[in-house]
Amino acid sequence: MKPIALTGIKPTGKPHIGNYLGMYRPALSLMENYLGMYFVADYHALTTMHDPETLRNLVYEVAASWLALGLDPDEAIFFCQSDIPEIPEFTWILSCFTSKGLLNRAHAYKDAVDENLELGHDPDERINAGLFYYPVLMAADILLYGSDVVPVGLDQKQHIEITRDIAEAFNRTYGEVLKVPEGLIQESVMKVPGIDGRKMSKSYDNTIPIFTPEKKLRKQVMRIVTDSKHPEDPKDPDDDNLFALLRFFASPERLEEIRQLYLHGGAAYGVLKTELAELILDHFADARKQYEELIEDKPYLDQVLLEGAGKARRIGKPYLEAARKATGID
Ligand code: ADP
Ligand code: TRP
Repeated sequence: MKPIALTGIKPTGKPHIGNYLGMYRPALSLMENYLGMYFVADYHALTTMHDPETLRNLVYEVAASWLALGLDPDEAIFFCQSDIPEIPEFTWILSCFTSKGLLNRAHAYKDAVDENLELGHDPDERINAGLFYYPVLMAADILLYGSDVVPVGLDQKQHIEITRDIAEAFNRTYGEVLKVPEGLIQESVMKVPGIDGRKMSKSYDNTIPIFTPEKKLRKQVMRIVTDSKHPEDPKDPDDDNLFALLRFFASPERLEEIRQLYLHGGAAYGVLKTELAELILDHFADARKQYEELIEDKPYLDQVLLEGAGKARRIGKPYLEAARKATGID
């Protein structure tokens, strides 16, 4: 059997081109050599998303995005996290091998605490225990299936390290029961910038959603923040987020031409933004057609996810049984 490449995405917002370049595309390109296991991490989303209708819709949007971007559910195993009852059980077992200090240092929790402290609040104000447990749930996602590699963006590196720590702690106690996975982080797309120059992220409201209506997408691209230089002024292409985004979509030849315009004058931001919007729309034209059909067919999405969950559970069960047996709670 092929080694397993597994990754998930939280349904907390519309998938954007940072997700695509940092995660969807690299993850899907592994399918030749790996059995791909891809899922919608709705339990993770529940740490922050407490509106049921929005959550439900976003699960469908993320599922339709995976399929539209090329996931073949006959080749890969595609499922929704909450359809796997083994996950919460395994999370508990793993939590007993997770040092609390490790979770104190996890970025998402630590950032929330730091923000509270800055505001002069109690450190744990409005922080739910789910956010604190987030990395253990993610370790369960990864370790349940004996995953070999986990393709993610740079921001998930710490979570992979925590997963490895948890697996190693478990194995130190009981022998080699769990497979210790490797993160697969594509350095070249470490951080796709958002329209404001910070990392593109749903949490910063600075994304370019892949399948947003064309008009909205063009508008969003026009909002990319640039400096106030005139077209004829020379500019540093490596210090400009419009250029950083063009890098991912323009052909190498065209990109070189644009680089020269930056360096020697002649790069008009407005014109280049229009070009970028067209490049993005072009790049996703076929995927967009498929997305629009898929999102209208919820029964199909339900069926695909449920079938995938069945397959995932068959792979996961023996790992959970081995872990239970090792601990003596079988
Ligand atoms: P967001 O930050 O928008 O909430 P997620 O945390 O859901 O995105 O990330 C889903 C996947 O996409 C992760 O593997 C993450 O590393 C990747 N990713 C998210 N934003 C970017 C980005 N700007 N550049 C590269 N990869 C990204
Ligand atoms: N935490 C990941 C993110 O925010 C999503 C995720 C949940 C995940 N479980 C996972 C990624 C397991 C890889 C493997 O992007």
